[in-house]
Amino acid sequence: MTCAVSPIARRLEAVRDRTLSLVAPLADEWITRTPDPIMSPPAWDLAHIAAYEERWLVTRLCDAPPLHPDLQATYDAFATPRAVRGGIRILDGRESREYLGAVRARALEVLAQADVSGDGPALTANGFVWDMVAQHEAQHDETLLQTLQMMPSGAYSPDAGALPPGAAGAGRPDPVDIPGGMMVMGAPEGRGALDCERPAHSVEVAPFRLDRHPVTIGRHLDFIADGGYDDDRLWSAAGRRWRRGSGARAPLHWHPDGAAGWTRTAFGRTASVDPGEILCHISFFEAEAHARWAGGRLPTEAEWEVAARHDPLSPHDAWAPWGDATHEGRANLGQSSFRPAPAGAYPHGAAPSGCAQMLGDVWEWTSTEFDAYPGFRAFPYREYAAPFFRDGYRVLRGGAWATQAIAARTTFRNWDHPGRRQIFAGLRVAWDAP
Ligand code: AVJ
Ligand code: FE
Repeated sequence: MTCAVSPIARRLEAVRDRTLSLVAPLADEWITRTPDPIMSPPAWDLAHIAAYEERWLVTRLCDAPPLHPDLQATYDAFATPRAVRGGIRILDGRESREYLGAVRARALEVLAQADVSGDGPALTANGFVWDMVAQHEAQHDETLLQTLQMMPSGAYSPDAGALPPGAAGAGRPDPVDIPGGMMVMGAPEGRGALDCERPAHSVEVAPFRLDRHPVTIGRHLDFIADGGYDDDRLWSAAGRRWRRGSGARAPLHWHPDGAAGWTRTAFGRTASVDPGEILCHISFFEAEAHARWAGGRLPTEAEWEVAARHDPLSPHDAWAPWGDATHEGRANLGQSSFRPAPAGAYPHGAAPSGCAQMLGDVWEWTSTEFDAYPGFRAFPYREYAAPFFRDGYRVLRGGAWATQAIAARTTFRNWDHPGRRQIFAGLRVAWDAP
């Protein structure tokens, strides 16, 4: 074994611990059922994680055949879309866990023999493919959480970890002036960033203002009370169509409760909404309307990144707004709090720009349509990002409480349909410079 092997294996094992502990409290009868046809049964995600790992860390690196050749199409996300996953034969919970374990044992054997130095082919250099697989599993853990939070009462009741308190006044808009200029956007080669984050390139950003914190539930309650959902001037034409089609009057998982109150249901529990908590489960269209109501707009993804970077001028910037130190105490990442934190909870995680809670809590909708960076090359396969370029998907930045640190960084790009609400998404308001 070379000395770089153990950290890679430890990262794979850390994500696997999360996967297995996330599904451990799930009632058995729900492991192969989905509470909503827009999501997969949890067992599908588990065996898909195993199939992806097998493809990249076993079959691709040595000549071993797959353990379930007959199920390759079942666990291919394109061949078997979500809508059909609830109605076909898939491995059950026990079989899926066995598949995960058997693939992992082989993958660790292959890893022990592999050259993970920077000298080998790009696929394995610096451990790229292992970190890609670990990030893929972490991303599916987040997808699992979207499914798990819709489980009926009694089916899934995880223990939620404690969160730090918010700061007085942090729930109010607080525009931070961000100077414009040329800056670096995107991640360098050889550090484990996924293809759509590369290459690092220069962009010019005009001076603008960005809210110090993401929008809280309290601010969105004001938007609702002000008639925001009925005020056509705040909504784009596509947003009005989405609002009519969905009938949305409030974020997903919210229910009216008496005169002016709202409750929220998540993970089988219903409780009054907490005004200090960061707002989640809104579509791009709701984010856009809220930002307009606040006298602003959504940031572009370049604006978001210049405000988030530790050093906006360095092509080899740190992973996080606060530098390369651990996120513990600096961001609500890691899938253990089961909700966003209050605004102002992580002053030590702020970027040098002054903007705080850029990573963790909620993904932040940007106004940018998902597209390739100049010089983009699909790697190591075409389907990760390229099929979604220029197809109406919007970029989200920052990661949520449901994101693991391995898949959250200032350059990370997420994307989704503008009407999606089961993802852990909120917003931060931008304003033009005065
Ligand atoms: C980057 C979160 C949009 O979940 O569809 C998982 C990640 N890619 N398996 C998704 C992904 C392949 C992807 N997102
Ligand atoms: Fe996947």
